[in-house]
Amino acid sequence: MPHADAPAYPVGLRLAGKRVVVIGGGQVAQRRLPALVSAGADVVLVSPSATASVEAMVTAGELRWERRKYRPGDLADAWYALVASTDPAANAAASAEAEERRVWCVRSDDADAATAWTPATGRSDGVTVAVLTGHDPRRSAAVRDAVVAGLRDGTLGAPHHRARAAGVALVGGGPGDPDLITVRGRRLLAEADVVVADRLGPRDLLDELGPHVEVIDAAKIPYGRAMAQEAINAALVEHAKAGKAVVRLKGGDPYVFGRGMEEAEALAREGIPVTVVPGISSAISVPAAAGVPVTHRGVAHEFTVVSGHVAPDDPRSLVDWAALAKLRGTLVLLMAVERIGSIAAALVAEGRPADTPVAVVQEGTTAAQRRVDATLGDVGRRVAEEGVRPPAVIVIGDVVAVGGAVADAARAAGTSGPGTSLGTGTDTGTVPGTGPGGVARG
Ligand SMILES: C[S@@+](CC[C@H](N)C(=O)[O-])C[C@H]1O[C@@H](n2cnc3c(N)ncnc32)[C@H](O)[C@@H]1O
Repeated sequence: MPHADAPAYPVGLRLAGKRVVVIGGGQVAQRRLPALVSAGADVVLVSPSATASVEAMVTAGELRWERRKYRPGDLADAWYALVASTDPAANAAASAEAEERRVWCVRSDDADAATAWTPATGRSDGVTVAVLTGHDPRRSAAVRDAVVAGLRDGTLGAPHHRARAAGVALVGGGPGDPDLITVRGRRLLAEADVVVADRLGPRDLLDELGPHVEVIDAAKIPYGRAMAQEAINAALVEHAKAGKAVVRLKGGDPYVFGRGMEEAEALAREGIPVTVVPGISSAISVPAAAGVPVTHRGVAHEFTVVSGHVAPDDPRSLVDWAALAKLRGTLVLLMAVERIGSIAAALVAEGRPADTPVAVVQEGTTAAQRRVDATLGDVGRRVAEEGVRPPAVIVIGDVVAVGGAVADAARAAGTSGPGTSLGTGTDTGTVPGTGPGGVARG
């Protein structure tokens, strides 16, 4: 005897090219359609109206839309149906037609009348997780979330049984807060045998690695300073050739002043495949963590990221400081703490106003984050007075003066802190335009 409480039989439908009919173009359709489209289904939507997102999928040619109410016969030749309109009579009629035609049918308004249920699904690295709990969709979603999160961050052990792709992953680890690495970066880290890590980046994540993982501190590889990059390249090559899964964990993004391409080229010369995982660069994220947007409507229409590792008058400099001084937008300087005095003087000499606001953000996104405010005219002195040390990002431009209201609201709500911070740490500066003493954003 069939009984209503029998568990659903799980199955993976291969819908590529198969006709799927969706009745109703509201929120339910909006949530379900992307997966049907990804599965390659030939989707027909029958509905007098649709949400803007559903309409955008129609415009993009991902599905066909019959802009009308359900009519008997709509489920002819369908392999699968999703009935989710706001009209109960139409839902019941479509569901009855599905039954008659033996088309598996999901109903958003009546799970008991449905012949199929949609599991809570998620994906991570080629694995589809699908969870059914009968009548408790929130529990399904919670179990799905826990499994997917575990797969993504590697806390749920699920080793690949097929041969692992050999080679080295150049992983951008973000600016330092361990939550600001990408999901892919974190997963590769969890699967690594060897991790070659920089001084900058999410070093807290190294504590989470298993005891079998060899962690090599790139800053301590024994060779002279000039040889350091060759030594790092050699270590990557050596471990990759030994068949190890190697992660080169770098601060920020590997290709933003990170010498990532040099490492990729060294590996390519040895025939070792490289995977590059982009990261959140400090150039954007560190100002943001201190409450500075690098662009703002009506204030800055461009931002330029510049290395300050050599002074403007250094013959090795590739930067046209005179041209930069003519720009009105935001300048973001990395590696510039030691030379900010001469850089600021060059910008002022070439025409950038001396009262241009400047924010210096040290150790952004970490618990030690601090922000010092200055102007282009006095930033060299302020950095020295305040003892600012690398790593710091220096933001120059009118965007530095916006965001005060948001910082005030965050402080009132008590939400400032690394990750949600808006000027956390010590603010020892004056925010131009706020009067003597400025706004303490700490
Ligand atoms: C060699 S560059 C690497 C940049 C990195 N690839 C990126 O995309 O952020 C190092 C410079 O990045 C900046 N930097 C990186 N992380 C930082 C952080 N958490 N706080 C402030 N500055 C940071 C500093 O200017 C530092 O001197």
